Amino acid sequence: LSDNGYLRPPGAAPTVIAHRGASSAAPENTIVANEVARRAGADLLEIDVQPSADGVPVVIHDSTVDRTTDGSGAVRKLTAAQIGALDAGSWFAPSFAGEEVPTFEAVLEDLRARGGDLLLEIKGAHSREEVATLVELIRAYGLTDRVFVQSFEVAALQYTRELAPELPLGLLRSTLDADPVAISRQLGLSAYNPSDAALATRPDVVDALHAAGVAVMVWTVDSPARWEALDAAGVDGIITNRPAELVGWNAAP
Ligand code: G3P
Ligand code: CA
Repeated sequence: LSDNGYLRPPGAAPTVIAHRGASSAAPENTIVANEVARRAGADLLEIDVQPSADGVPVVIHDSTVDRTTDGSGAVRKLTAAQIGALDAGSWFAPSFAGEEVPTFEAVLEDLRARGGDLLLEIKGAHSREEVATLVELIRAYGLTDRVFVQSFEVAALQYTRELAPELPLGLLRSTLDADPVAISRQLGLSAYNPSDAALATRPDVVDALHAAGVAVMVWTVDSPARWEALDAAGVDGIITNRPAELVGWNAAP
């Protein structure tokens, strides 16, 4: 972990991580949301993936398509073709009508063509085979050095480690572990990624994790007051719905 490139160099600003793309300005987890984030200067594009009924990884946060498309039903019970036919933009604003739920492959294609690095969240429990499908796609697109994998699911991280030891890993947490350093070492993490509320209970864990060579990426933080507090605490990355604003805030004197 000593050569962890996700640790913030002295004097640098926290990494700007676009949560579900630039999700305050465009429909979350779409190609256009990633494009808006890329143009804003985000360092990492965060997306959520889960498999369709026919085993195709698709980019969507919820376990159903109801909130973010014009359809209904569980992601895992709909085929990729059914999900791909949905409108994932109109719910956000009429100007985004026709935007699709992208497949994970479409996001990788876009990344290869237009640039950017990915913070890939493996959303929900995944089998080893489902994780293997993600790894195969990342390798097929030659993007292993531009994808960081995070999950709340310890098993998904362990499968990733076994199948693709070259991919850096982050553990998402809603509450802090008693010993975040110990679990980071146990899982071979490059980053420990707590919620803002969780980290606020013990901001000193940032120093302990840094001493162990582990980066800290905090979610999901949209207010300048919290950006300031997290910057002062030394966090390495801030996951935000407002990447353009955070890029501007970082650049301000
Ligand atoms: O990137 C962290 C964050 O995305 C985790 O929460 O629910 O937005 O996936 P959620
Ligand atoms: Ca997420």
